[in-house]
Amino acid sequence: MAEETLTLTDNRTGKTYTVPVKNGAIRAMDLRQIKTSPDDFGLMSYDPAFMNTASCESRITFIDGDRGILLYRGYPIDQLAENCSFLEVSYLTLHGELPTESQLKAFEAEVKKHTMVPEFVKRVLDAMSPDAHPMGMLAACLAALATHYPESRNVLDPEVRWQQTVRLIAKVPTLGAYAYRRKRELPYVSPDDDLSYTENFMNMLWKMTEAEYKPNPVLAHALDVLFILHTDHEQNCSANAMRSVSSSQADPFASAAGAVAALWGPLHGGANEEVLKMLDQIGTLENIPSYIERVKKREVMLMGFGHRVYKNYDPRARIIKQTADQVFAVTGRNPKLEIAIELERIALSDDFFVSRKLYPNVDFYSGIIYQALGFKPDIFTVLFAIPRMTGWLAQWRELITDKEQKIARPRQLYLGYGRREFVPVPQRG
Ligand code: ACO
Repeated sequence: MAEETLTLTDNRTGKTYTVPVKNGAIRAMDLRQIKTSPDDFGLMSYDPAFMNTASCESRITFIDGDRGILLYRGYPIDQLAENCSFLEVSYLTLHGELPTESQLKAFEAEVKKHTMVPEFVKRVLDAMSPDAHPMGMLAACLAALATHYPESRNVLDPEVRWQQTVRLIAKVPTLGAYAYRRKRELPYVSPDDDLSYTENFMNMLWKMTEAEYKPNPVLAHALDVLFILHTDHEQNCSANAMRSVSSSQADPFASAAGAVAALWGPLHGGANEEVLKMLDQIGTLENIPSYIERVKKREVMLMGFGHRVYKNYDPRARIIKQTADQVFAVTGRNPKLEIAIELERIALSDDFFVSRKLYPNVDFYSGIIYQALGFKPDIFTVLFAIPRMTGWLAQWRELITDKEQKIARPRQLYLGYGRREFVPVPQRG
């Protein structure tokens, strides 16, 4: 068998080094021995935006971007979306194994116990304008909760970690629903223990004067599938934010607020909101070719297209398209679907997109469903953040228990001035 090593020759010195290769990677720290002189710092690797750097070992989510494969703990996403509830997938993501019936019941009961939020959180929301972006509201409420649970800072205690994990998974739909109601200046609805995780979310969003809110089962199932599809996606921008913030042993509520901020950006989870704005801007099927021309001239982006890892159809986008049909059977067809399908057809037959392997990602179709469900675009990314909380927590739990991890602290290549003398104001200019 071939040796699992890499031999490098430094042409600056003529010296040769052999470094181990493990799991398809060399350790960046093994490069540090490569020096031009004894006082040389040693060789570093330069990788802006982590294009080719693994920052951790992980056993949670696997993506084969070339073949469009996504596995949570080894199980294909389509099998989980077809057969599981979101909390079942959440348990799997956190624990590594699918729950038995009694484990699932116990987990569901535990989550139900923690769905309420302290009264002061409502006052935090009330202090914000109804025009505030709901992702800002969510981040603020998570940071506020960090102040309420001081024990959550004890991140090295496994029991404390589990308690915060359950609290965050239980409370994030409540926070999302309350941000939605704050924007409409509607009273907040208390969680209902008789309902499932997703049904209860719908109840807190949409209950009005009726004594008992009855969620439509087709829509509840569709939302549950969307939650499953958004549970985790390995080392994406927000998961990396969660890991990076919590690597300082910050508490998980504060770290999750950081992850929410990362998800909010239009190049990440904020893309679902941008897709709807783009479809509105395009307006009619006839305007698609001119929009595509503008994308090719780099005047605009085709939002909901492209992915750092997928260079093939995002398997989540495929499942979302199927889910859309079930939703539209209840809500009526969203006219934007025609524009999206035609946009996808034209893009996938155009060399600009084909040669760059740009395919629809999870955000391309999700917004169309959310809109059919009655959501305005600014809440779309909150609908992404709710299930992704599970993924962030799974990543955090893995990080904290990984003996190799330390505070995340990248190096830089300093290209600025060397030392220079201070110049007083009158002598500058
Ligand atoms: N529209 C037009 N051109 C695009 C798009 C797009 N959506 N995405 C990538 N490209 C082009 C780039 O301009 C680049 O072209 P070039 O090589 O001629 O310069 C090439 O495709 C490669 O793109 P990169 O920007 O290098 O890809 P990267 O991996 O850095 O970015 C990203 C991935 C951020 C997702 C990008 O595709 C994008 O901005 N897409 C639109 C926003 C979006 O939908 N984000 C959601 C991603 S999924 C998620 O986070 C949940």
